[in-house]
Amino acid sequence: MSEAPWTPNDDSGWPDDWPYPRDVQPAASRGGMVATTDDYATEVGRSVLASGGNAVDAAVAVALALAVVNPEAGNLAGGTYMLIRTADGTVSALDCRSRAPAAATTDMFAQRGTVSDRAVTGHLAVAVPGSVRGLWEAHRRFGSLPWAGLTEPAVGLAQGFRVRERFVRSFEPHIVEGLSRFGSSAEIFLPDGEPPRVGDLFCQPDLAATLERIRDHGADGFYRGETADLIVAEMRRGAGIISHDDLRSYTVAWREPVRFSYRGHAVLSMPPSSSGGVTLAGMGNILGSFSLGDLPWHGVEHVHLLAEAWKRAFADRNHHLADPDFVQQPLETLISGDYGARRAATISADRATPSSEIRPGAVTQERGDHTTHVSIVDERGNAASVTTTLNTWYGSKVVAQGTGVLLNNEMDDFTARPGTPNFFGLVQGEANTIQPGKRMLSTMTPTMVLDGRGALKMVVGAPGGATIITTVFQVVSNVLDHGMTLAQAVMAPRVHHQHLPDRIRHEPRGLPGDVVEGLVGLGHEVIEHHEEAGDAQAVLITEDGTLHGVADPRRGGVAAGL
Ligand code: DON
Repeated sequence: MSEAPWTPNDDSGWPDDWPYPRDVQPAASRGGMVATTDDYATEVGRSVLASGGNAVDAAVAVALALAVVNPEAGNLAGGTYMLIRTADGTVSALDCRSRAPAAATTDMFAQRGTVSDRAVTGHLAVAVPGSVRGLWEAHRRFGSLPWAGLTEPAVGLAQGFRVRERFVRSFEPHIVEGLSRFGSSAEIFLPDGEPPRVGDLFCQPDLAATLERIRDHGADGFYRGETADLIVAEMRRGAGIISHDDLRSYTVAWREPVRFSYRGHAVLSMPPSSSGGVTLAGMGNILGSFSLGDLPWHGVEHVHLLAEAWKRAFADRNHHLADPDFVQQPLETLISGDYGARRAATISADRATPSSEIRPGAVTQERGDHTTHVSIVDERGNAASVTTTLNTWYGSKVVAQGTGVLLNNEMDDFTARPGTPNFFGLVQGEANTIQPGKRMLSTMTPTMVLDGRGALKMVVGAPGGATIITTVFQVVSNVLDHGMTLAQAVMAPRVHHQHLPDRIRHEPRGLPGDVVEGLVGLGHEVIEHHEEAGDAQAVLITEDGTLHGVADPRRGGVAAGL
């Protein structure tokens, strides 16, 4: 292990057999940049920018297209968070997270000692979707091109697109098994009992018709009329509980973005109902007390500090955070530099603090498997950072018959039983228990970084459940602390800790053996995870105003400029 800090030519900590190289060039442009997980969707965003649309127009068209070409995560019936920055510097945070139906009850998934699988698969797992209402409201406030035109690329793709590799890879065996349990889903995604193959023409006529209703009637084309009737009929078929009234009464919330300082930069991110921004701030404020950039990148000391800070930030997250419309939270304290410094002072340099000894900070109340991320910056400097989800891949696995629309399984993000882990292993508290109309706590972390003069420097986000927050932190820190290029920052191997389970997790082949040994020596449990982390999509604005776009190769995304 080298003792030198990271420089672009220094490969300490970057394993020789790591699949992603350090010399990848970003997409570069001065005229606008789109980074998404799917090349069809990136092309849709690019063409909206090319025809004079702004970043929000492009984000709307891309999100609708992702519901067609990336149906495992892109969605009409999921939830979304959007951070939007206009060229004049105003930043808005749009919360269009799914909500519990009115008939939901606190113990609906709690069985003796376990959490029911019905929180993950099938009709009861479905929460009231927020994405379409959110796209509609974002467009009403910030869009510049007519709505109908932004829906057209998605309608065209739903009428038929040629299947590419990335889509085929989403049909893992357990996904095929889940989809095969529901006739309305199997009919679309498993024609003749098999997933589609590369080169097939994949047609979703019901989805095209649903998108046409959204094109013609806006959000009402989803939340009222035929689409709503079909969703409610599907609920009745499978003992689900979403009603017409749940759909009609769904509203979005505009919230105050989380803002904190890190290494002389301002970081802006999503407030509750997502935990992303507050937890990211907790991590940044703790690690601000240490000179990470002076440490060998992914050496023992570096990974130890990351893990210790993340444990503490996640302990606070899991205990304190929830939907702010239902639960009062000490947000100002949790994102303050003083609080971060107090948490940092409890870190020992030569010993891992067991998670069982890390309590959520005592703070006074103040009054008063999947997801996908899109990063877009337009020529004028407007930016959109959008993370959207059905929760796990293909959500509840249920398509509402006749709509072509896959329904989410967001109910699993609530605390089904305090102390029992959810699908992502998160052990959450009372604050996030199920209540009618409440938004379940999220980890989604659409983020922007401003330089010392307040100019936009980076737009970033990722999928990956609990790892979203540590992924976003690592991409930002790799650039700001370690001087990596954006491509290196995204491609670099990642580590993760979420307080419980009490262990550091690293990507396959992601951490050198001697570093693992050193961490074990400090008292950490370290495991190699079987899967790579989520695919981050990011744009960086260089000093001379050039836009660098990087789509993470972990899932084969594409970044393209004008
Ligand atoms: O909102 C959340 O925290 C989860 N529903 C996110 C799920 C996710 O990122 C899955 N992606 N791999």
